[in-house]
Amino acid sequence: MEKIRSFNDNIDIKNKRVILRSDFNVPIINEVIQDKTRINLSIPFIQNLLKRQAKVLIISHLGRPKSGKDLNFSLKPVYKYLKEKIENKIYFFSEKITNRTKDKLSFINSGEIIFFENIRFDEGEIKNDENFAKNLSSLGDVYINDAFSCAHRKQASIHKITKHTKNSFAGPLFMKEIHSINMVLKNKKSPTTCIIGGSKISTKLGVVTSLINKVDNLIIIGAMANNFIKFRGNKIGKSLVESGSDKMIEEIYNKVDNSNCEIVTPFDFAVSNSTDGEAIFRDLNEVKDNEIILDIGPQTIERISKIIDISKTVLWNGPAGYFENKNFSKGTISLAKKISDNTNENSLISIVGGGDTISSIKNNRLSVKFTHLSTAGGAFLEYIEGKNLPGIEVLK
Ligand code: 3PG
Repeated sequence: MEKIRSFNDNIDIKNKRVILRSDFNVPIINEVIQDKTRINLSIPFIQNLLKRQAKVLIISHLGRPKSGKDLNFSLKPVYKYLKEKIENKIYFFSEKITNRTKDKLSFINSGEIIFFENIRFDEGEIKNDENFAKNLSSLGDVYINDAFSCAHRKQASIHKITKHTKNSFAGPLFMKEIHSINMVLKNKKSPTTCIIGGSKISTKLGVVTSLINKVDNLIIIGAMANNFIKFRGNKIGKSLVESGSDKMIEEIYNKVDNSNCEIVTPFDFAVSNSTDGEAIFRDLNEVKDNEIILDIGPQTIERISKIIDISKTVLWNGPAGYFENKNFSKGTISLAKKISDNTNENSLISIVGGGDTISSIKNNRLSVKFTHLSTAGGAFLEYIEGKNLPGIEVLK
């Protein structure tokens, strides 16, 4: 594998402008950050750059704003949090990035930060626009991508920016994610179990299909599993399903039939009439027309726990249910505890990824231990799938 250019202590950044692409795409409700993991993990490296007298320009996106500047997606709460955590001076920059921005930023001194507003407020970001990337890269002397979780996005601040920057590198968090995932994949021992949750099957179809030939057990949970349950002719009430999923699922089952992989889907559930309701437990085919499946039930938890017990490697991405309501977080918590206990006591190799999975663990203040906890969701899955991620390719 071609080597990734990683940032190191010998690279001179004193008095230089360093563009740092971070991933501060964190859950925020009413301007309150719900999970600070991604930010807290980034702070030591930011402090390292400041100590080395760099002028640090921090770029991130937040969510998927549809029409330009939508203040519901403002990164201001993250800026305020960083101000509390970092003593050095931090400015907030919310203007559009043009070919004049470079001169406007001349006020920054060494050891200071300019924190940019959501980079996706400019449509040039998503479009990977050449001109936008050029303007962006002109702001700095050195570019560091420390957002592995965005490496699957072909967007200007991840991808095209490197075309116009001579000095582009992967940061320490980026490298740590890659090393840890590689280490687990290299050392993975059979039986291997992959647990995939979350909601959209179309975004995870590639990884599910590719894993069939690589793992012994494939466990599908979360709203994604509803598509499988419905496909097999079982009732799912008002539960979330993705239109057109039947064809995808048929292909998955066909592939499974010709492999040694066993696919497991939930067969009992916690349901309710609404997402803020109480849990009612239902067996397969007992779900009523007005009910929504919001978590896996106790028998499914037991079955998955037994599979984890006989596994030597477990990869897990995506919660088991609607964990935001405590009544439906039991599936996710049980899996987190089981995987953690077996990592601790039975030397299970475990790799857990995804923003939602981490949020559910943190929300419940669980003290857990995994071989590697990845902050990445989609990028983690695509990397495991063996895809070439655009954000990695440009740093080779
Ligand atoms: C993530 O949370 O997985 C990354 O920040 C990427 O976000 P995106 O899926 O909106 O591109």
